[in-house]
Amino acid sequence: MLLGQNLDELADPNSDEFPEQQPDYTANATRAVKPEFLVVEGSCTHLGCAPLEDFDLRPSENWHGGFFCPCHGSRFDLAGRVYKGVPAPTNLRIPPYRFVRDDLILIGQDTGAA
Ligand code: FES
Repeated sequence: MLLGQNLDELADPNSDEFPEQQPDYTANATRAVKPEFLVVEGSCTHLGCAPLEDFDLRPSENWHGGFFCPCHGSRFDLAGRVYKGVPAPTNLRIPPYRFVRDDLILIGQDTGAA
């Protein structure tokens, strides 16, 4: 992941403006409990379309991989952080979640028994 190469291009790289968009335990550079797994709502924060994955790196276009919303062109990086100058006002929302086991994630709940 190339999560540190585009910070100046992001609207809210540290999710400071809208901390309610993610649980406190994902307030880190990858916005994840485990950096190898991004758990993010697949709903654009502009008008709710489904962003598409675009993980190919295209240095000539200054694209480091991430998500592209086909409805109005919003772009998000690999941690779901929104780029500046696009219609989406905030980063993609991260729901509450927790790992029940190394290979099982419970989404929608982050406390209590599974
Ligand atoms: Fe995604 Fe408008 S709904 S950019």
